[in-house]
Amino acid sequence: MPRPIIEPFRIKSVEPIRLTTVEERQRILKDARYNLFGVHAEDVIIDLLTDSGTGAMSAEQWAAMMRGDESYAGARSYFRFAEAAEHLTGVPFIFPTHQGRAAERILAAVIPLRDRTVLSNGLFDTTRANIEAAGARGVDLPLADALTAGKPFGGNMDLAAFDAALGASEGRTALVVMTVTNNAVGGQAVSLENLRAVSERCRAARVPLVLDACRFAENAYRIQQDEASERESSLDAIARAMFDACDVYTMSAKKDAIVNMGGMLGVRNHDLAERVRVELIRTEGFPTYGGLAGRDLEAIAQGLHEVLDASYLEYRFAASEYLARAMTRAGWPVVLPAAAHAVYVDAALGLPHLTPHDLPGQSLACAMYLAGGVRTCEIGELMFGSDVPRRQLVRFALPRRVYTQSHVDYVGAVAAELAEVRARLPAMRIVEGAHQPLRHFTASLEPASPFPVT
Ligand code: F0G
Repeated sequence: MPRPIIEPFRIKSVEPIRLTTVEERQRILKDARYNLFGVHAEDVIIDLLTDSGTGAMSAEQWAAMMRGDESYAGARSYFRFAEAAEHLTGVPFIFPTHQGRAAERILAAVIPLRDRTVLSNGLFDTTRANIEAAGARGVDLPLADALTAGKPFGGNMDLAAFDAALGASEGRTALVVMTVTNNAVGGQAVSLENLRAVSERCRAARVPLVLDACRFAENAYRIQQDEASERESSLDAIARAMFDACDVYTMSAKKDAIVNMGGMLGVRNHDLAERVRVELIRTEGFPTYGGLAGRDLEAIAQGLHEVLDASYLEYRFAASEYLARAMTRAGWPVVLPAAAHAVYVDAALGLPHLTPHDLPGQSLACAMYLAGGVRTCEIGELMFGSDVPRRQLVRFALPRRVYTQSHVDYVGAVAAELAEVRARLPAMRIVEGAHQPLRHFTASLEPASPFPVT
């Protein structure tokens, strides 16, 4: 029997989980108006809402925090942070920000975007919102079969569509954004070959390439495993090659720097760095702390180092693949290959009696909470509306280094119980807030009939 891939850490500090009953959860979910963002975290047994800022820091990260230098200007912690980021990326001008979207907003403020276009393999919602608030149009050009082919690198840019869009935009393309891994497209990875092909085209067209790098390590691991030419390359070398392709990067440190808060913006161009510096001071803070405390900068520096450990990344993918297998065994269709940071269940295929308008993703997400206190996130019609036809997905995101295999077994068991009653999972209706922007955070909902969960 092959030996299992173990969690490559042991637990030093624990947090109790309150085990609620079905009756309690019935009341809690009703009080939250069937919106899982309204449920208190204390009332959740396994929280798979997001992998962002929810990871467990290591003993070394906590120790580094005690070394935090909280000086306003020129703090020692800033230099440790900048050295770690530059060592990883090779990008010379590095600015701390309080989280990823602050880096996006600053970039959108210093690059002329009005009436221009931004092309991407898949813009994350906040990236799109920042670009569009600055007056540009964001255009996603993912592979047509990205979620169905079951092949590696479903996160790639569709190069033929990219060439056509770049040509047709006649110099109006302001930026190209490559998101690694592609969170908007099933968390699928991007190959180095695709990244380099996009980069060459950007350099020829003199359009800056931005890497949205928050899951860079998970992407680097997939390149090492699945891209034949990179099998012998180290994870550090692959990560560096990914950053070499870009002119600018934005990063939410809440993912692969394994901290609870933080982000950064890196640029190569001296003049652009000057503009960023001014905007950073105006809105986030002095350039040697951005929106962060010195202790946060220390934890990021240490996290950037830890995340490229091969045994950690092997375990990370093993955990999500294990959950994907459990979901498949239970009869729920999942997007394959499983991403590292989440398993995406196709609720439209799993609940064929519901139309997209019945919000099958939200029905499944509410049922997972009612049946087992498992909190997940709908990524479908509730989140995006019905303007663009899209898959009705439920994201089971895995916080880093937080849950053990028995927690994942529990999630699989709850999903298997639900599969038995899936034909009776109800349609969901939005009763308030349907027209609010970002309505999934605030809308009130109601099931059309009671959930078959007792
Ligand atoms: N880019 C990507 C690809 C992301 O997934 C996120 C956040 C951001 C940018 C923004 O970073 O939250 O630090 O401001 N994603 C989280 C998620 C919220 O749940 O997927 P932030």
